[in-house]
Amino acid sequence: MTQHPLTLYLAAPRGFCAGVDRAIKIVEMALEKWGAPVYVRHEIVHNKFVVDGLRDKGAVFVEELDECPPDRPVIFSAHGVPRAVPAEAARREMVYVDATCPLVSKVHIEAARHAENGLQMIMIGHAGHPETIGTMGQLPVGDVLLVETVADVATVEVRDPDRLAFVTQTTLSVDDTAGIVAALNARFPAIVGPHKEDICYATTNRQEAVKAMAPDCDAMLVVGAPNSSNSQRLVEVGRRAGCAYSQLVMRAADIDWRALEGIRSIGITAGASAPEVLINEVIDAFRARYDVSVQLVETAQENVEFKVPRVLREPA
Ligand code: F3S
Repeated sequence: MTQHPLTLYLAAPRGFCAGVDRAIKIVEMALEKWGAPVYVRHEIVHNKFVVDGLRDKGAVFVEELDECPPDRPVIFSAHGVPRAVPAEAARREMVYVDATCPLVSKVHIEAARHAENGLQMIMIGHAGHPETIGTMGQLPVGDVLLVETVADVATVEVRDPDRLAFVTQTTLSVDDTAGIVAALNARFPAIVGPHKEDICYATTNRQEAVKAMAPDCDAMLVVGAPNSSNSQRLVEVGRRAGCAYSQLVMRAADIDWRALEGIRSIGITAGASAPEVLINEVIDAFRARYDVSVQLVETAQENVEFKVPRVLREPA
């Protein structure tokens, strides 16, 4: 049977970012250094495949510190943690390693600096996402106001409109955030913020690549997990940029082949916590059904790398 031709646009960059790569390495190196079990507070990165792989090697995933025995090492996830968490680990004299992405830590430092300067903090982020909880948790409970939308900006109640600063989650939609920042600047002209926002290079680059390829794609698949913020944003960006059928898939088994009937082109990308093996699995699934020609859509090159904490580089 002859197979239909299919142009497969492959986004670059896609998949793992430097922060995710480092966080996974931290768990692997901790297991090597201290042996199993090593506890990890929250999914180290939002990907079931990655989490299951580390669990097989001896990592134990928990949601809160009090689920960890005090005599085993604990690792904090890439999303960051409220200040109270390392403080409690220290109080319990636990060995802990912070796998918070350095670009999230940078936002934590910004938030603390603004508070020291007497500014009230506004965080642009998604309620309930661990990164938002971690960043807001750098300051005492109730000190940081959360805004999620332009509509929230209109109703947020501040102490003093002239003494305000904002920070953002690193994995937001670049375009939505620009709108929220513009609304904040319009309502509070004195508000202090980062030069652009705190959205990281990986989030920005992955969204750019999707924007470049979406208009040429009959359909687009984002390899990623439903609880991965940056993956969800890629789906939205794809839809807005002209590819109405943009869907999240965790792996090849999730592809709805019936919905793809008749397509001549497909775009493939992946969120920052999705491993390349799952992307290849998806590509192979298309190769099995179509006569695929792959076209790389490269909008940026990345060479960012973060070092693991010193404690893991030193011999046991
Ligand atoms: Fe860090 Fe951005 Fe990745 S904040 S964990 S480099 S998505």
